[in-house]
Amino acid sequence: MRVTISQIKAMKQKGEKITMLTAYDYTTAKIVDAVGVPLILVGDSLGTVVLGYDSTVPVTLDVMLHHTRAVVRGAKNALVVGDMPFMTYQISPEEAIRNAGRFLQETGCQAVKLEGGVTMAETVKMIVDRGIPVMGHLGLTPQSINQLGGHKIQGKTPESAKRLLEDAIAIDQAGAFGVVLETVPAPLAAFISKKISIPTIGIGAGVGCDGQVQVINDILGSYTDFVPKHTKQYANLAGVMTEAISQYYNDVKNGKFPTDAQSFPMDESILTNLGK
Ligand code: KIV
Repeated sequence: MRVTISQIKAMKQKGEKITMLTAYDYTTAKIVDAVGVPLILVGDSLGTVVLGYDSTVPVTLDVMLHHTRAVVRGAKNALVVGDMPFMTYQISPEEAIRNAGRFLQETGCQAVKLEGGVTMAETVKMIVDRGIPVMGHLGLTPQSINQLGGHKIQGKTPESAKRLLEDAIAIDQAGAFGVVLETVPAPLAAFISKKISIPTIGIGAGVGCDGQVQVINDILGSYTDFVPKHTKQYANLAGVMTEAISQYYNDVKNGKFPTDAQSFPMDESILTNLGK
């Protein structure tokens, strides 16, 4: 049975920690789903960790729809959240509704995520009112990287901490079913988590959040261009892959691959008839 937004919200009430992880393709989504992770985010972080851009800004709606479809095919139980990319929801609420609708209709995902607080609250409400579950995203909002001036901790000053709290309350009141808090001091994230009714999903926001989200390439150690302080590498996939690919490379060069085990035999007489 597919996880529902009511179940996610109930987890906060019961004090059950919520695990969320990104996935960008069918094979990975199938593994994440089989582990029992209840929330899969098809994050626009795929712009950096899959496509090699230096930010999420170049990611388009078509790219997100393409990857979200693949993840939905792989995830049978998790609630799949499609990340609305830059400029697909900021121009007008009408465009935001249309594009959020495309995620659900064209990919089969169950919810969308978008960045922004007070300024996006009306848009969030309008999308939710049309039957589309929305997750908010506050703190370090990567689509605004050019405005923020880099990957900086958000909410460190009295003014910005107050703004962040107001943003979280606005997103809660707009009807979102959860909110990501990215790169926010742990005590502030814990405080906000107590102040709002919906689950907070932290990334670089400490253990006081109701749940945690990570970029899968970070926790698997496959993306090595930049290792954020907030991540923990549970594997060194880059190392494992390098070793395996090197062995394959050498085996092909030395004629050790393929062996009979990977080849298909045939009746020798057929070749004889061909003039061998
Ligand atoms: O795009 C993404 O993967 C995200 C997470 C970092 C929350 O937005």
